[in-house]
Amino acid sequence: MARNFGLMAAAVCALAFAAHAQQDKSVIDEIEKYRAALGDGNPAELWEARGEDLWKQARGPKKASLEKCDIGLGPGVVKGAYTVLPKYFGDTDKVEDLESRLVTCMVTLQGFTREEVVKDPFGGPGKKSDLEALVAYITGSSRGMKMNVAGTHPKEREAYEIGQKIFFHRGGPHDFACSTCHGDDNLRIRLQDLPNLSKVADAQRAYTTWPAYRVSQGELRSFQWRLYDCFRQQRFPELVYTSPASIALTMYLAKSANGGTYNAPAIKR
Ligand code: HEC
Repeated sequence: MARNFGLMAAAVCALAFAAHAQQDKSVIDEIEKYRAALGDGNPAELWEARGEDLWKQARGPKKASLEKCDIGLGPGVVKGAYTVLPKYFGDTDKVEDLESRLVTCMVTLQGFTREEVVKDPFGGPGKKSDLEALVAYITGSSRGMKMNVAGTHPKEREAYEIGQKIFFHRGGPHDFACSTCHGDDNLRIRLQDLPNLSKVADAQRAYTTWPAYRVSQGELRSFQWRLYDCFRQQRFPELVYTSPASIALTMYLAKSANGGTYNAPAIKR
């Protein structure tokens, strides 16, 4: 019965996709032109500049900057660090993505509480997120470099396998998995082409263009936000910021993007 329901949901979903696939191609071309026109002056630069400032400023109860934070290539190394994340860190005995690692450093080096740090992980009307700014600065420092996630430590391998399982796990009221929307070629919702994230070329293109400045939202969005929003689209329970599940999924997608040239913060619809 459950299986039939799944097939039905998939059929309804496929129909919806087919209908949307008829969308006028010229509209998509227009969005591409808009994106190209903005490409020269990406508002993400504002987030990058604010993030650099936050990285270097002495802040928190310990009045320390983040310049001693090890985000993957040793304390204080920013350039290229994003290309090796997520990664196992011995001091926490955990696999961490960029955002969880920043939280770790803001707690250990600057003396903030975890609650203070993760209070506003995503910006919105009238509130700016420090984490999104830091993410913009650090990721921007890996532009032009190749993704190079090791995934060899047993805990990294475990995270990858869990991430892969989550990607294909169907559930929720519509019996959707990530793969329902991102596991086939040429799927589309409204004007959005959906990448087939189970294929290397698409995974590379998608992963290496996040974080991104969202024109429709006037905000820079991090990868944790991307996953959070897709959990919502999947009608899954709210994804907890920097939870093991979010890091496992990031591990799966980041490793699938290995060899791709990193090119973000990008600009998107
Ligand atoms: C119901 C369909 C649906 C499901 C299920 C879904 N997504 Fe998405 N996903 C989308 C849509 C639509 C977009 C583009 C959204 C936009 O641009 O606003 C997207 C975008 C993305 C992107 C960015 C692609 C790019 O090129 O910018 C990633 C990465 C992603 N999803 C990962 C996931 C993961 C991981 C899951 C499972 C937790 C998932 N998605 C589940 C619909 C879905």
